[in-house]
Amino acid sequence: MQQSTTGTAMVRPADVGDIEQLTSLYNHYVIHTPVTFDIEPVGIDQRRAWLAAHPGTGRHRILVAEEAGTLVGYASSGPFKERQAYETSVETSVYLLPGHTGRGLGGLLYSALFEALAAEDVHRAYAGITQPNEASMRLHQRFGFRPAGLLGQVGRKFGTFWDVAWLEKRLG
Ligand SMILES: CC(C)(COP(=O)(O)OP(=O)(O)OC[C@H]1O[C@@H](n2cnc3c(N)ncnc32)[C@H](O)[C@@H]1OP(=O)(O)O)[C@@H](O)C(=O)NCCC(=O)NCCS
Repeated sequence: MQQSTTGTAMVRPADVGDIEQLTSLYNHYVIHTPVTFDIEPVGIDQRRAWLAAHPGTGRHRILVAEEAGTLVGYASSGPFKERQAYETSVETSVYLLPGHTGRGLGGLLYSALFEALAAEDVHRAYAGITQPNEASMRLHQRFGFRPAGLLGQVGRKFGTFWDVAWLEKRLG
């Protein structure tokens, strides 16, 4: 168990009891922001399948930060691409509940995630960051992610084309 800089957040693997809070947290960013390219809110059943594909062991994990019984954020590692030779690469992401950004919880979650992945057969981690997103860029750079390319106007959401910066972290 880890404590945040505020001393009140605890990080642990996600479990089925988190499904509703995980879904509503993610859907906030789906509905209101371009940070994810999902456009329609995801359903509870979709999130349940996503959770099942990220067990508490192996390369693909979901960790949650909990504070006073509220899920205040999560970090995940999932497949980068499905084809088998990509299996040593993961795509990571981190989302905090609105109102809980800017006080180190993202770093707390990523510390725990990369600590867990250190024992796994993972060689590279990638993050795709819709531009601009200064807090996410800085967080990823602090965790050793380096620029791996910029995809110009690769997605359209809210009637606008968005650039995505890909960042790469070496592990193992
Ligand atoms: C991105 C996110 C996970 C970062 O977590 P966080 O706990 O808020 O991050 P921190 O407080 O550790 O700040 C990270 C860095 O960004 C900086 N920062 C924080 N908020 C910022 C802002 N609004 N503008 C510019 N810089 C900001 C911090 O000073 C810090 O810089 P440093 O690493 O050089 O010290 C969080 O802000 C979040 O959930 N944002 C919305 C969802 C999202 O964008 N997820 C990422 C998808 S790729």
